[in-house]
Amino acid sequence: MPLSLAQLRRNYTLYGLRDDGVPADPMELFDQWLNQARKTEVPPAEANSMALATVDRDGHAHCRMLLLKGFNAQGLFFFGHYLSAKGQELASNPHAAMTFFWPGLERQVRVEGPVVKVDEQLSDDYFDVRPAASQLGTWASPQSQALSHRSELDTRLREVTEHFAGRQPPRPEHWGGYCLQPRRIEFWQGRPNRLHDRLDYRLHDATWQRTRLAP
Ligand SMILES: Cc1cc2nc3c(=O)[nH]c(=O)nc-3n(C[C@H](O)[C@H](O)[C@H](O)COP(=O)(O)O)c2cc1C
Repeated sequence: MPLSLAQLRRNYTLYGLRDDGVPADPMELFDQWLNQARKTEVPPAEANSMALATVDRDGHAHCRMLLLKGFNAQGLFFFGHYLSAKGQELASNPHAAMTFFWPGLERQVRVEGPVVKVDEQLSDDYFDVRPAASQLGTWASPQSQALSHRSELDTRLREVTEHFAGRQPPRPEHWGGYCLQPRRIEFWQGRPNRLHDRLDYRLHDATWQRTRLAP
């Protein structure tokens, strides 16, 4: 039976998304929804997790979970290895998409736009406030490269721990932040009987235009 999950479904009844009263700036609505998610989601510390989709130079899509570390009028910030698979995909094709899913609120937010590397200072600042073990882990792990065995990672960690003994590791050059500059943000609110609410904001000439989409 290929459709063994066919009967697994939930009817969404918690909230609606009206046309009146929603902010003209989608980042304001994102702020409201993320704050609510932080109070609602289990565990709350992962309300900032999202899927990031990138496309490689052959046109193949790749998607993985990441943590959003902040956002402002410029865009949405996340961190990782610049030499990782995602780093290489973003270097060859900067267009990416993020999806947040908050099941406790029956909500999804999709964000699309070009991604740029953040200023080195911002990457330094965030690296400096990460726990020491994460800093060493960043040095030890050549993200997305093949390892012969788990023990290779343990060996690398021992080596970098000895190397930086007694001092704080600096940020590796190959690790840092990215900013997704939104051109499109869609808010999805689950509604009963699959007749969901979808509000789609698109940036045209520096102005956000909002459209309601069919579910
Ligand atoms: C909840 C969650 C959060 C994650 N957060 C990050 C993150 O912020 N940065 C990161 O580089 N990888 C993060 N990862 C690991 C990525 O999903 C992925 O394995 C890694 O970035 C390598 O992806 P790539 O090979 O496509 O570059 C997270 C994984 C999960 C499940």
